[in-house]
Amino acid sequence: MNHKSIAIDGPAGAGKSTLARKLAEKLGFLYVDTGAIYRTVAVKVLWEKADPADPAQVIPLLEGLEIHIGYDSDGVQRMYLEGEDVSAAIRKHKVSGMASQVSAIPEVRAFLLDFQRKLARESNVVMDGRDIGTVVLPQADVKIFLTAAPEARAKRRLLELEQRGQEANFDRVLQDIKERDWQDEHRPSAPLRRAEDATLLDTTQLNLDQSLEALLSLVKEKIAL
Ligand code: DC
Repeated sequence: MNHKSIAIDGPAGAGKSTLARKLAEKLGFLYVDTGAIYRTVAVKVLWEKADPADPAQVIPLLEGLEIHIGYDSDGVQRMYLEGEDVSAAIRKHKVSGMASQVSAIPEVRAFLLDFQRKLARESNVVMDGRDIGTVVLPQADVKIFLTAAPEARAKRRLLELEQRGQEANFDRVLQDIKERDWQDEHRPSAPLRRAEDATLLDTTQLNLDQSLEALLSLVKEKIAL
C-alpha cells in the first residue's frame, strides 16, 4: 500500500512540532519529529564528550548507534538512545545548539536519511524538520513551509520554556533562534530552504487554532481524506 506523507519544514520555533502533532492527530497519521532524532545524536555526542563541530569525532559514533522512536498512548513521540529514554535530555538548551552542529555533518544526515524514509514507507506520516520536502520525502503528497517572524517565534519559545518551569530571557531566546536559523540555512549539506513546490504558511499573525485550520485546509486541497 502506498502511504500518504505530509512534509512540514521551517525554522526553529515556527510552531512546527505542536502543529504537526495536532495535524497528525486529526488525520490519524503518525507524527515524526525529525529534530528529535538529530537531538538524540547530539545526546550521544554529549555522553561521549565529543566535539559536535568535529566530524572526525562525531562520525565514528554513528557506527552501531542505537536510536529508537516510540509513542505514548496519547501519541507523544519518545526517543530512546541505547535503550535509555532521552526524551527530556534532548530538550536541554545545550543539546539544541549541539543538534544544529551535528546536523551540519553530511555523514550524520546520510545516516538518518534511511531511518526517516523507512518510517514514511511504513505509515501515513506528518513529518516535520528542515529538509523533509527537499531531501527526505521529495515525493511527499503535501509540502508546507511554516514560518513566522523571529520575534514571534522567540515569544512562543519563551512561553514554552516558562511553562516547563525553565528560566528564560527574551533577548537570549531571540539571539539563539537567529543563530540557529543562520546555522541551519547556511550549512552546505541540505540547508533549510523552502522546496519549490511547498506552500508557505506564515503564522506570525495566527494563533494555534487558526494555524491548524490553515494547515488542514491546505492538506484537504491536496489529498482526499
Ligand atoms: O526542530 P529542532 O529544533 O528540534 O531541530 C534540532 C536541530 O536539528 C536543528 O537545529 C536542525 C536540525 N535538523 C535538521 O537539520 N534537519 C531536520 N530534518 C530536523 C532538524
